[in-house]
Amino acid sequence: MGTVPRSSLPQMKIGIPREVHPEERRVAVVPATLQRLQGLGFEVLVQSGAGDGSNAKNAKYAEMGATIVEDANALWSQSDIILKVQPPTPAEIPLIRPGTVLISFINPADDSERVQALASSGASVLAMDQVPRISRAQKLDALSAMANIAGYKAVIECAHHFGRFFAGQMTAAGKVPPAKMLVIGGGVAGLAAITAAKSLGAIVRGFDTRLAVKEQVESLGGEFLMLDFEESGEGSGGYAKVMSDAFLEAERKLFAEQAIDVDMIVTTANIPGREAPKLITAGMVESMREGSVIVDLAAERGGNCVLTEPGEIIEHHGVTILGWTDLPGRMPALSSKLYGNTLAAMVEELGGNDAFNLDMDNEVIRGAMISHDGEVVWPPPKPTAPTTEKDYSKDFGKRPNEESAENTAAANEPSAPSSNIGMVATLIGVTALMLCIGLWAPADFTMHFTVFVLACFVGWQLVWNVTPALHTPLMSITNAVSGIIILGGLLHLSVDSTTAAVVLGALAVFFATINIVGGFLVTRRMLAMFRK
Ligand code: NAI
Repeated sequence: MGTVPRSSLPQMKIGIPREVHPEERRVAVVPATLQRLQGLGFEVLVQSGAGDGSNAKNAKYAEMGATIVEDANALWSQSDIILKVQPPTPAEIPLIRPGTVLISFINPADDSERVQALASSGASVLAMDQVPRISRAQKLDALSAMANIAGYKAVIECAHHFGRFFAGQMTAAGKVPPAKMLVIGGGVAGLAAITAAKSLGAIVRGFDTRLAVKEQVESLGGEFLMLDFEESGEGSGGYAKVMSDAFLEAERKLFAEQAIDVDMIVTTANIPGREAPKLITAGMVESMREGSVIVDLAAERGGNCVLTEPGEIIEHHGVTILGWTDLPGRMPALSSKLYGNTLAAMVEELGGNDAFNLDMDNEVIRGAMISHDGEVVWPPPKPTAPTTEKDYSKDFGKRPNEESAENTAAANEPSAPSSNIGMVATLIGVTALMLCIGLWAPADFTMHFTVFVLACFVGWQLVWNVTPALHTPLMSITNAVSGIIILGGLLHLSVDSTTAAVVLGALAVFFATINIVGGFLVTRRMLAMFRK
């Protein structure tokens, strides 16, 4: 499939409809984000009342240059691009004009009929929940943006239903012990929950099947619970894998001990595309102190607690269980702002008004594309050539051995023929230069010069071929080499040396010092990234 240029259209219109889902308070774009879209050359139409739930009134949109359109029919029919939060409902799909570009959450795996209906509408549909999780696409990662808010809001809701301070207090009126919280699952939402609970002063414990999470939990001030069980939860691409029944049983034992001790449990354990593992039993809930609270973020996928009722709040033996599935929507202004930023980044990725292009060779656009030209194009084909960045989204639900087999196959593929002409020309040039120098220069000079040229070549090859993951050890090696250079340089700085040797020695000391000091500065900055 090739590219589909749209630059022939004069000024494309972006439409922001009012969300029709009864509980949806978010809007796709807030007034503050309009300028970004207008800066890309688009005209923006907003359906009247679209931002009401997010404190974004019609007047504010109008002030920022948007055109307010009264009804949904007019908005959908006039727009070339529709930006939405919730997937279109059966009532909205007939409003889509063929050729429209629709960008929204779609969750294609949950509803194949909707995907088919969207394809039949003739729209090109891009799902924000399918954006590949590669570093280049971080600014388009709407899922992480929403999970971060959900984790924070889970703790705030928890605090609302928990009848005590989080931090311990010693007052004249009495002593209040600190509250204890267990956070199960240390993904984006879990880590956000730990941060929020710690900042309120609670004692926080965390657990995850992936050991890589241990350091992250500890760096946020939480205590990571260890399970005496030999099974790694590391799936492919940094995601978890489905654990064995024996592991889940051992995990439940650990949580049963914790349930007696803690006051609150926030569960976020999830394997993308699967039903959430059942980790909190009715017995555990009954063993918790009265007034305790459980917030089940996995409610959307059936819940981590057997008693969770998705979308509901229930009480069982004095324990409140929150199963809300719309936590980001409970902070609508912030969620809309951050979600709108990821949408604007997607529109930028599509090239703006003048260079608008549904480029099927762009891995981000292709990964998110659900339907195009009346056809369902999801899931995207697996990449044929190994890429430098890993596309995590394609590893969902895959077992590690499948991934390593693919990696081996990819590694065995012959590498693409690269252009060697430049390299050959350089080699011929260097050889000719060496011949000339050999003919006319003194023997001593020729020898040193040859060593110098070879050292440059070997050094260049070494540095260029080191994978980025090994740059830190490489830096230590270059620092060691710089140390040797400084020693050599200092020897030439003695009084007996000629002026030229002193100057060269001083230059060697100067540049090698820059390398060493620079190395330390970069290391400090890298370490600072991991400190709170
Ligand atoms: P994620 O997939 O990055 O994190 C899930 C974490 O659970 C991973 O770290 C994984 O290793 C861990 N996990 C998996 N199985 C486990 C097990 N058996 N025991 C312990 N840990 C286990 O997802 P993210 O982005 O952090 O979101 C977490 C959950 O919150 C997801 O289910 C997501 O759908 C949900 N969510 C809910 C919202 C709501 O309004 N209720 C809003 C946004 C997200």
